[in-house]
Amino acid sequence: MKKRHLITAALPYANGPIHIGHLAGCYLPADIYTRFLKAKGEEVLFICGTDEHGVAIELKARKENTTPQAVVDKYYEVIRDSFKDFGIDFSHFSRTSRPIHHETAQAFFKKLYDNGRFKEIETAQFYDEEAKQFLADRYIVGTCPKCGHDGAYGDQCEKCGSSLSPDELINPRSALSGAAPVKRITKNWFLPMDELAEAPGFKAYAKRVEGWKTNVKGQFSSWIQQGLQPRSMTRDLDWGVPVPVAGAEGKVLYVWFDAPIGYISATREYFAEQGDPEAWKTWWQDPSSSLVHFIGKDNIVFHTIIFPMILNEHGDYNLPDQVPANEFLNLEGDKLSTSRNWAIWLHEYLLEFPGKQDELRYTLTSIAPETKDSDFTWKDYQGRVNSELVAILGNFVNRVMVLTHKYFEGLVPGNKLRPDTAQRAAVMDAIRANSEEITGFQSEMIQSLTDFRFREAQATMMNIARAGNRFLAETEPWKLYKTDAAAVAVILDHALQICAQLALACEPFLPYTSGRLLEQLQWEPDTQVRRAWWREQQPVKPLEAGHQLGQPELLFRNVEDEMMDAQRAKLVKTPEKMEMTSPAYTPLKPEITYEDFAKLDLRVGQVIAAEKVAGADKLLQLTIDLGFEQRTVVSGIAMHFSAEEIVGGKVTLLANLAPRKLRGIMSQGMILMAENKDGKLLFVAPNASADNGSTIS
Ligand code: 2FM
Ligand code: ZN
Repeated sequence: MKKRHLITAALPYANGPIHIGHLAGCYLPADIYTRFLKAKGEEVLFICGTDEHGVAIELKARKENTTPQAVVDKYYEVIRDSFKDFGIDFSHFSRTSRPIHHETAQAFFKKLYDNGRFKEIETAQFYDEEAKQFLADRYIVGTCPKCGHDGAYGDQCEKCGSSLSPDELINPRSALSGAAPVKRITKNWFLPMDELAEAPGFKAYAKRVEGWKTNVKGQFSSWIQQGLQPRSMTRDLDWGVPVPVAGAEGKVLYVWFDAPIGYISATREYFAEQGDPEAWKTWWQDPSSSLVHFIGKDNIVFHTIIFPMILNEHGDYNLPDQVPANEFLNLEGDKLSTSRNWAIWLHEYLLEFPGKQDELRYTLTSIAPETKDSDFTWKDYQGRVNSELVAILGNFVNRVMVLTHKYFEGLVPGNKLRPDTAQRAAVMDAIRANSEEITGFQSEMIQSLTDFRFREAQATMMNIARAGNRFLAETEPWKLYKTDAAAVAVILDHALQICAQLALACEPFLPYTSGRLLEQLQWEPDTQVRRAWWREQQPVKPLEAGHQLGQPELLFRNVEDEMMDAQRAKLVKTPEKMEMTSPAYTPLKPEITYEDFAKLDLRVGQVIAAEKVAGADKLLQLTIDLGFEQRTVVSGIAMHFSAEEIVGGKVTLLANLAPRKLRGIMSQGMILMAENKDGKLLFVAPNASADNGSTIS
């Protein structure tokens, strides 16, 4: 095993929040693996950050009528915070818009350029004459030649997953204007992948891939066998890392050239912040460091071919030791889709299920798409929480804690039993058999984690809890106590040591639960105990006789049907739209129920008098007629309307808003206004024939 481990997780595009597909595909397995290595006492660095370039970001900015910078600033924070709240324990989380990244990516490009590794090629590229720009990657859409999906992008069909080039699209059109594009000649810098695949360093690396996961080596060999083509590493776009060579003004690096270099710049940034700016080199360049990329299947070609090729051509870098890519996760039988809003968003889950990070971590790892696509359903989530976490793990720990408090005042009883009766000998046999079983699970679990089989590893961790429950069922301490309290002491001592081992064993998968369990046990395992358990695979018994335990607390609670119904009701498929052509609805406020809306008493009103409020430039005092009464309303519209021009007009009044004093005048409601893009205010006016006082619903 190598000395230190550099673990990376795919840099998510900063154009939207994280959903469960991202977690199951890449971030959770990467986090579990990192936590496992740390528990073993290995030297580990876990690197990630946001991918802030590429057409996907530009498209989002256009859709939201804002700038790419505003988009990435917003989603960088959303993504960073939700990962943190979910316990994804990055050593460092950076972003590719930072100067250190631009500098690193440009230096990389320059080195390959100076070594003559690129081919400058003039090609005819799609161009939108209306928008006056080249249509790289996702700027061009059309029908997929492989599956017929109308809405495939110039680089990929999201329906069938095929990687495409713009020329392959049937009926190509601009994602900006919908217009049929024309072709224009432009110069770009191509990586001659066909030639570079023959380099000895790459060929040696290709041998390594043969030992990787079937899905990964399958994609790798199919690309190599099809014959690699030169691929452009630059784009005619504004947003990105400028190409650092003369004659490339107005061009940026292809996002898939700069993004993986983001792993390097993030490592540089991390060590610079630690005050050790050269240390990153050990992690990337010393052959005793291993490099493992966690990604989803759509990223395989970039991480197993293009990036290693670039690293190899540079010459100073290690090539990946493992790329344990996962397949895709579906949701309730259908493909996860951001554009159709068919997703469970991490930041929403964290708000709606506070303190239940581990319930989602557990479910996603149980169904991780390690070898083939898998499906998340809320029913399955509920079943796994109630029948596994609550009924097996939670139940075992709770029984042991409660019984120890009941019989021994919460003190660890110790195991000083002499088996001088047949009954006691049976208890000792049960303990021996159970210990052997648990040691078996321990080594199985460690092997599964080493081999990137996280689903299996987690199931084995649960087998430890199952073995604990079986042990209690077999020895029945609650029955034995009346006749042999000393035997019960030994039984519970053993069961408590299993709880302690479970606190260690569940940490990579369920870090919050591990913390809560340690709290109940009032135990802080030191590095040595962790190592003994994880590295030397010793069956530790760390709780000393007489140690005072904390109070029993339930580790998990049942998930009720209503919660699941509410989540299912939230899942509504919106029709797939072509990116860009119509701006999508982005909620400005959290979703509300009909019951929330029904609380508003909205009425048709008519302005029968208006005057300026003395000493307040923005306020008008209005008298609103509701038919059955007249109301005084103070409204902040004086900069937009004169008092005279609004008298007689119909308005929508929120009539049950709590009265509020403004400039000494009691305002009895609020007038609804619309605000145009240019900031101009307009009355939300009901039809002129609507009676004053009539309800609006
Ligand atoms: O697929 C994606 O979300 C890409 N942003 C992943 C990039 S991984 C790495 F290369 F940075
Ligand atoms: Zn397709």
